Amino acid sequence: MTDRPARRLLIRDLEQLVTPAGRSAPLRGADLAAVDILQHAFVLCDGQDVVAAGRMSDLGPLDGDVVELDGRGRCAIPGLVDCHTHACFAGDRVEEFALRAAGASYEELHAAGGGILSTVRATRGAGEAELERIVRRHAAWMLRHGTTTFEAKSGYGLDLETELASLRAVAAAGGIPTWLGAHAVPPEFADADAYLEFALADVLPHAAGLAEAADVFLERGAFDREQARRYLEACRGAGLTLRLHGDQFTESGAIPLAIELGARSVDHLEATGQEGVRTLAASDVTGVLLPTSALFLDRPMPPARALVDAGAAVALATDFNPGSAFSESLPLVCSLACTQLHLAPAEALAATTVNAAHVLGRADRIGRIAPGYAADIVLLDAPDWRYLAYHLAGDVVDAVIRRGELAWERSSSVRELP
Ligand code: NIG
Ligand code: FE
Repeated sequence: MTDRPARRLLIRDLEQLVTPAGRSAPLRGADLAAVDILQHAFVLCDGQDVVAAGRMSDLGPLDGDVVELDGRGRCAIPGLVDCHTHACFAGDRVEEFALRAAGASYEELHAAGGGILSTVRATRGAGEAELERIVRRHAAWMLRHGTTTFEAKSGYGLDLETELASLRAVAAAGGIPTWLGAHAVPPEFADADAYLEFALADVLPHAAGLAEAADVFLERGAFDREQARRYLEACRGAGLTLRLHGDQFTESGAIPLAIELGARSVDHLEATGQEGVRTLAASDVTGVLLPTSALFLDRPMPPARALVDAGAAVALATDFNPGSAFSESLPLVCSLACTQLHLAPAEALAATTVNAAHVLGRADRIGRIAPGYAADIVLLDAPDWRYLAYHLAGDVVDAVIRRGELAWERSSSVRELP
């Protein structure tokens, strides 16, 4: 449901208004935990932008046409930013989920031609219109959990037509497309090198015009370090920002490669050891942590506390996909960040807003509630904003404002002002 665009929107009588402090990005070290908290607050949006935020006692009279929302019993935080999803897929992997529950491992299923390749078969059969419908459906799920900006990767087509259709479907559904051209080796190619030859010669020239970034799965059984280097160098040459899936199961040199190539992020890091933590912390590469994926696969959690304490820039994301993380909830990610990764609620908030926006190259416009930023705001059904992480798998998101419009509401009470 979407209200007609209001020129001005006032959210009033909020219990708390909370935003990562300052203006810089990415946030590291002690800055990651620095949040501004205003009690009894308001936010005023004009068109697609926030124009003022402050205490109710400082709210002067507003003339003209202003739509008001009731913030009583609610806390406002910035719209959440999911900087790592695989939301463009057809079919499901519920059979595989049941097999894993009975003891099969993710890597065994992948090696046997299941896993990612079973989703490739389903996605190739879907067609572009169906893929667009699917990504829109997934985007609607995300919105209900407070996600106002999402990235989504291709990588379940691995042929020219389906990879390009996936990137177009993501953009059509309002997402930020990443070309994950090196996700797995499809069965029609003899090996990874033969597949990369095709992907870089035939797909990259078109993908570069549709995607903002390129991503590679650098892992035993997928692409090795030299193959990843070849793929990423070609993508960089075509103007794409670089990202890597690295250290998910094994430390395979993803961190040094990411730094060498000037990548924006290296994502997963469940297998990263102390040396990797130190190396990443001393670099400009953001570590994207995906605790739902570790939980879903019963894998070790990434060394988040060590990374933050060492001064690394970290973001948090869902990794939403049918195989390793079938969950679109960033509030759940925040709960796992606090309970499993030993981050503070404030650190989880910055990692799912400002730092995730930085990974997507948008930290000057999204990730904070402050004048000049986009009017992307989540209203939590909570007396304290930390319910974002505290209310584990709860109905914590009450309403979502995206670009100054009420884009989703759990109940209509947010519109019922006396
Ligand atoms: O980030 N590890 C590689 N890719 C995805 C999983 C994709 C899938 O299982 O379908 C991930 O976990
Ligand atoms: Fe992923």
